[in-house]
Amino acid sequence: MKYGHFDDERYEYVITNYNTPLPWINYFGQDGFFSLMSNTCGGYMFYKDAKLRRITRFRYNNVPRDYGGRYYYINDNGTIWNPGFLPVKTKLDSYKCRHGLGYTVFESEKNKLKCELLCFVPLKDLCEINQLTLTNLSNETKKITLHGVIEWCLWNAVDDQTNFQRNWNIGEVEIDDNTIYHKTEYRERRNHYSFFHTNIKHDGFDSDLDTFTGLYNSWCDPSAVMNKTSYNSKASGWSPIASHMFNIELKPNESKTIIFQTGYVENPDEEKFESMHVINKKRAYELQQKYNTKDQVLKAFTELKEKWMNLLSILNVKSDNDKFDRMVNIWNQYQCMVTFNMSRSASYYESGTGRGMGFRDSCQDLLGFLHLIPEKSRERIIDIASIQFEDGSTYHQYQPLTKRGNADIGGGFNDDPLWLIAAVSQYIKETGDYTILNDPTPFNNKEGSEKPLIDHLRASINYIITHKGPHGLPLIGRADWNDCLNLNCFSKTPGESFQTASNFESGKAESVFIAGMFVLYGKEFATILKNIGNEKEASNILKEVKDVEDATIKYGWDGNWFVRAYDAFSNKVGSHECEDGQIYVEPQGFCTMARIGESLGYGKKALDSVEKILTNDYGVEILHPCYKEYHIELGEVSSYPMGYKENGSVFCHNNPWIVIANTVIGNNERAFDVYKRNCPAYLEEVSEIHKTEPFVYSQTIAGRDAKNYGEAKNSWLTGTASWTMYAASQAILGIKPDYDGLMIDPHLPKEIKHASVTRVFRGITYHVNINNTSSGNYQMTINGKNIDGKIIPFNKENPEVTVVINL
Ligand code: GLC
Ligand code: GLC
Repeated sequence: MKYGHFDDERYEYVITNYNTPLPWINYFGQDGFFSLMSNTCGGYMFYKDAKLRRITRFRYNNVPRDYGGRYYYINDNGTIWNPGFLPVKTKLDSYKCRHGLGYTVFESEKNKLKCELLCFVPLKDLCEINQLTLTNLSNETKKITLHGVIEWCLWNAVDDQTNFQRNWNIGEVEIDDNTIYHKTEYRERRNHYSFFHTNIKHDGFDSDLDTFTGLYNSWCDPSAVMNKTSYNSKASGWSPIASHMFNIELKPNESKTIIFQTGYVENPDEEKFESMHVINKKRAYELQQKYNTKDQVLKAFTELKEKWMNLLSILNVKSDNDKFDRMVNIWNQYQCMVTFNMSRSASYYESGTGRGMGFRDSCQDLLGFLHLIPEKSRERIIDIASIQFEDGSTYHQYQPLTKRGNADIGGGFNDDPLWLIAAVSQYIKETGDYTILNDPTPFNNKEGSEKPLIDHLRASINYIITHKGPHGLPLIGRADWNDCLNLNCFSKTPGESFQTASNFESGKAESVFIAGMFVLYGKEFATILKNIGNEKEASNILKEVKDVEDATIKYGWDGNWFVRAYDAFSNKVGSHECEDGQIYVEPQGFCTMARIGESLGYGKKALDSVEKILTNDYGVEILHPCYKEYHIELGEVSSYPMGYKENGSVFCHNNPWIVIANTVIGNNERAFDVYKRNCPAYLEEVSEIHKTEPFVYSQTIAGRDAKNYGEAKNSWLTGTASWTMYAASQAILGIKPDYDGLMIDPHLPKEIKHASVTRVFRGITYHVNINNTSSGNYQMTINGKNIDGKIIPFNKENPEVTVVINL
């Protein structure tokens, strides 16, 4: 069942039924001010860090689920309704929620009153704009009240939800004409405040929640709205809000527009106050002036749309498969932008208070984002590398405000260092810019410890070389990519973190997955070294790669698939010898991508096993059979109920590895089959089962052993976005940035007979026409001339190149 439809012309998903199976959200913002927006107008805003600078309040775990947002209440002769359906839940005569790229528009109607609400964060400023237009479609004059309301968060989102004895005393606001300012803690140690402004004078306001709603009422039936009034309350402690009320009279066919703005302002210490206790609002006034007219809003909105048009023109495909095109051209790239901005911090499943920027997550997020904004990617790479330690190990995360490593979680995740090579090599391939390798980059952010970035890559490689176990395979540490395979944890204590506790350090547990990574990225690093003339160092590294490759062939092969790991007692994990968890997907993907045991047919056999044992209707499950019991020697993976999360769901992140691996062994049909199984656009028709947004990937889809088989969770913030972008563009379409130019190596399935791709690469626009007759032959033609090989010779003189590929 569908709850809306794609509008590819406008780059939107249009939700027409507000009863979606879960809230379907969107994101606004690019450089500091970020917002989450659900299809019911729910969500919240923050500045840079969703934990430490939360601007508006949102209660996770609420009943109903999606409560807290920017709520516009229309009281039309006793019928009270909201354009986004919540919170009042009055049945609407018509409803549309158009989630677009960085904006959302609601178009709703009730009793011949139409409301259009446009919401976005402008490109250049720290604010969210909500432009609301009411139109009277009836033949009679309507007298309505409109209340626009948001609820402030007292900045630190964790403290805000826990420290009530203090917080209910500290809330402070200022009211000034048509703006309500939130200035809690501004007097002491904060230099920032926020405001909720309207472009025309209100007829009343409220800033105290309990007064606005009435103590025993709720967002569904606020007293002020029901009574068509405002109490002009000035919050002092408790829960500060900002509500503006308007009495509006609309003649037949008349329209009225009001612009609401939620802004964030920082003042230098010496300019904090205008007078005793009165905040200096100069910067706020400047910001307010910029969006006070419809023309100004339209201009900012147009700029935002143009920015996206430009970004999406860098990589664009037109094939005979609509769903594939729509994902590659629009939604997959959009999701990559969001994961780049948010890492795993703020979604409807990530509270924004737990995780900062992950080392491995952010490195992988770059793989699908790099082509969009290489300069930002470069900056991100340096930020990430700066939390690495000199021995090559790394902090696992950093907090976006401080960019310092997060000591609570620490390090010891032994895959982390290698992801840096994945990101840097891809950056060089995209840009051709080797100078990044010379960028002075500190270790553990210590001033004076700066070394050229290439030394960080050396440290990464060296860490793996010097941390191997009894079989010559890399030690796993706290975990590798699979956070829940905790082979040194041995936890019996309720609540103890599986990732950070180590109750039994055997120094023995090894990861075949990291072995695959080491072979893949070790070779990559050797290529970079060769390219900059360090032949000798490159060949030394290739020797190390060979050792790990040999060890994997010898100890990492189970007969029909790759073993997953060796536990602390050197017992196999992910082997037919095990009772449960006999096969894991991760090493099948990575070791095949790394071509380990290629001449022995390992990749092919491993992927056959993946198809036979792990593949379900919605993709490839992470392991099989699911663990039925808790294994203290394996950790969190065996703690999840069967079929959920790491214990046997389709953990979407590693599905694109199987897509890519299948193209490596030349099985194009199967690659596309796996691609389609959990591609959201292909699951739109079964939204009632899949439940999450049909335009973005989710982290996990419950597996066959789960009660809710097929139900997805944790949409938006997942490495699936980047890896799928990589798989679709570089493996399936085969448009591969390489060190010496653009390689075209498509692996199209038979069902895609033709694809025209536009790709802007290092300033040159390539028009690539791929004709797929599935002949098994490959021929590249440039301007009618046949060319040998798969790399388009790089020629700066030609800003446009037209290429034909016959397959
Ligand atoms: C989550 C984490 C990621 C990890 C994965 C598998 O997506 O963000 O770092 O690799 O789970 O456990
Ligand atoms: C990842 C995993 C999750 C685990 C968490 C620990 O998000 O998906 O299952 O609990 O990492 O940090």
